[in-house]
Amino acid sequence: DTRDPTSLRTPIVAVLGHVDHGKTSLLDKVRGSAVIEGEAGAITQHIGATAVPLDIVSSIAGDLVNPEDFDLPGLLFIDTPGHHSFTTLRSRGGALADIAILVVDVNDGFQPQTLEALDILRRSETPFIVAANKIDTVPGWNENEDSPINATYESQSDRVQGRLDEQLYEIIGNLSDEGFSADLYWRVQNFQRNVGVVPVSAMTGEGVPDLLAVMMGLSQRYMKEEMEIDVAGPGVGTVLEVKEEKGFGKTVDIVLYDGTIKADDQIVVGGQNEPIVTDVRALLQPRPLAEIRTESRFEKVDEVGAAAGIKVAAPDLEDAMAGAPVRVVRDRDLEHVVHEVEAE
Ligand code: GTP
Ligand code: MG
Repeated sequence: DTRDPTSLRTPIVAVLGHVDHGKTSLLDKVRGSAVIEGEAGAITQHIGATAVPLDIVSSIAGDLVNPEDFDLPGLLFIDTPGHHSFTTLRSRGGALADIAILVVDVNDGFQPQTLEALDILRRSETPFIVAANKIDTVPGWNENEDSPINATYESQSDRVQGRLDEQLYEIIGNLSDEGFSADLYWRVQNFQRNVGVVPVSAMTGEGVPDLLAVMMGLSQRYMKEEMEIDVAGPGVGTVLEVKEEKGFGKTVDIVLYDGTIKADDQIVVGGQNEPIVTDVRALLQPRPLAEIRTESRFEKVDEVGAAAGIKVAAPDLEDAMAGAPVRVVRDRDLEHVVHEVEAE
């Protein structure tokens, strides 16, 4: 394949699921930091974005992800809150996603926000896999830190294996009740037709290599065409949050899903009354593997390409709205771009 890999953008992966089922812990495990420590009441109240480059995906997934086999640049994870009052944030995460991970606690099984997340995925026709989390809590579990699932499964007693199987088949049954044909991921041939279930532990990292491998494989196999974008084109994104930032005034945290945004671009942002036309003052990027939500020291950058989470500082953002579109004007007709933002 001689195609320029920079013409493929990073797939956006939404992590959805019921409260406390382990969404943030799973991302924590992946990025090896402890965002969870800084969370108010351990409840995620805002969507965060975490970029994981392919080389890191590969170093975690080991033999399961050979970087030579992929030309997608990595994965951009969007964490969402599971608490019942945050439906809007979940929908926003779901709407942005190319692909999703539905996290289900193996002990707790399907819960109200599991079903709500399934509805969001169904409506947006987002392909997803299920992470059957907390497998380490099966009584008698023998931990094998960061091991792929087959190796750790083989090291469990018959009783533990039997118990886990029961829990997994319960989840597969629940998915079937909701109209999704599902199976353990290694039995799934066509991930477009069947939902793959990946047993994991966010605590011990067991199954996490499999989860990343499946996400990379799925993206590469089925999403590649959608990932082919005009890399140098004017950026398009969605506002996740409007936030006061020391020294910058009101800023917007956006997820850019197409094109680029530059530090001297004119942009149009959806506002409470009318679209806001403004000039970027600074693009503030969290370091790779850092969490935009808790990262306080940002690096000023000249340009960012999709997909990425980026903080944009600009004048007149007081009326900007979470969930609103953002579009870069560049050499396009301003009126036209304003109409596009109004129409979204
Ligand atoms: P919300 O953001 O509030 O919806 O929750 P969440 O889905 O992000 O859950 P979170 O990651 O905050 O985890 C909830 C609790 O479950 C924490 O106490 C975690 O330590 C625990 N937990 C998460 N994953 C695992 C796991 O794989 N094994 C065990 N034993 N505990 C886990
Ligand atoms: Mg969380």
